[in-house]
Amino acid sequence: MGENEQIPDATGLSRRGLIGLAVGAGAAGLAIGAGSGVAGGVALGRARERQVQDAAVSGDGIHQSGITTPVQDHLHFAAYDMMARTTRDDLASLLQDWTYAATRMMQGLEVSATGAVGGSPEAPPDDTGEALGLPASNLTITFGFGPSLFDDRFGLADQRPPGLERLPAFLGDDLDPERSDGDLCIQACADDPQVAVHAIRNLSRIAFGRARIRWSQLGFGRTSKTTSDQATPRNLFGFKDGTANILADDTAALDEHVWVSASEGPAWLAGGSYLVARRIAMLIETWDRTRLAEQDRVVGRDKAQGAPLSGGDEFTAPDFAATDAAGKARIDERSHVRLAHPDFNGGIRILRRGYNFVDGNTDLGRLNAGLFFLSFQRSPDRYITVQRALATDAMGEYLKHVGSGLWAVPPAPAPGRSIGAGVLGD
Ligand code: HEM
Repeated sequence: MGENEQIPDATGLSRRGLIGLAVGAGAAGLAIGAGSGVAGGVALGRARERQVQDAAVSGDGIHQSGITTPVQDHLHFAAYDMMARTTRDDLASLLQDWTYAATRMMQGLEVSATGAVGGSPEAPPDDTGEALGLPASNLTITFGFGPSLFDDRFGLADQRPPGLERLPAFLGDDLDPERSDGDLCIQACADDPQVAVHAIRNLSRIAFGRARIRWSQLGFGRTSKTTSDQATPRNLFGFKDGTANILADDTAALDEHVWVSASEGPAWLAGGSYLVARRIAMLIETWDRTRLAEQDRVVGRDKAQGAPLSGGDEFTAPDFAATDAAGKARIDERSHVRLAHPDFNGGIRILRRGYNFVDGNTDLGRLNAGLFFLSFQRSPDRYITVQRALATDAMGEYLKHVGSGLWAVPPAPAPGRSIGAGVLGD
């Protein structure tokens, strides 16, 4: 691999940040080199930079981290739009710079060698500094490419994966376009909220002049698990969530339900996945006035243990044929668990990785709260099938889908390469 193909070193990154922030240059201005005043720091940092590039393998080196990684406690998710008049080169350089900075931050390093305090006192620092002294906190940064990235702006129309379109309208949608879609997305998860926020803040800053945040979402309290070691957490309805999720060690299920295979195309997406985000408002006050037995019926599991209403414990398979003495199905036909279950969806499973959110309160004094639902699946169709099946979900009375997005999630970049190298063919 030639030197030019490498992810840029600290010089390139520093220049972009400094020019963009100090001068307020647009995309054209970013390409013009200017004295950055970081030369001393760069010389010092070079050896370290190389080590970082050598170690630049996210997750297992095949798939991006942040999918099967044990679910962390906090989320900062952001969707971005490329700015007007940006070019394919701007997109390529942005993805290089993002990969470089993300790789460093996932190792607990600052975004560049000079970081928050090692650069010129006359220039804004490369790193914003709020994560100084904090550990990596299991930070994962996962990148996705939205349907709109494959329009005619960047010459990527022939690379569009099949089915990568805006999700169709679903019953009960009340979507806010300003909380939906986006050319690109970044999912940052960490055990420390400050580390997740630092990641999105710095990646947004690096994007200056090329892409800007379209919308973003903070999340706390994971609502799923991806390993059997993790206890099943509870969502804001107070129910265990993630019991039947796909786990990281179930490689057969991951291959069948989550990873895009080489034969499905396009080639750059093999080993990747599709990410769906749904901002789902939960009508918490209404739910809280609902009888416990009714809450159980709506979910199809009991609140105490998360056991299916057909009996057994949390991990007993639900028996949808089981009836009570009066001959009534023990697991209601409109319960969430029954309608979402693979038995009624052609065997489809999805990997859920959502978070709770509370964004203050409404004018009526109710909590503006819900579930920021995130799931990874092998094709958009698979998600659409499951959500359509939930059209008659008894839980629907307590939910309102207010934001939505779909992105193709490329596989992990090869060491030293950009997350965009595959799709951009360079
Ligand atoms: C605020 C909205 C939602 C809440 C509160 C919620 C809650 C739950 C709960 C408590 C369970 C049972 C425990 C478990 O296996 O995880 C569950 C299961 C499940 N949910 Fe949701 N869910 C929501 C939205 C969705 C959406 C939008 C989808 C997909 C379109 C979905 C798909 C599933 C699936 C596939 C299962 C597992 C079914 C099984 O195999 O048993 N959920 N959900």
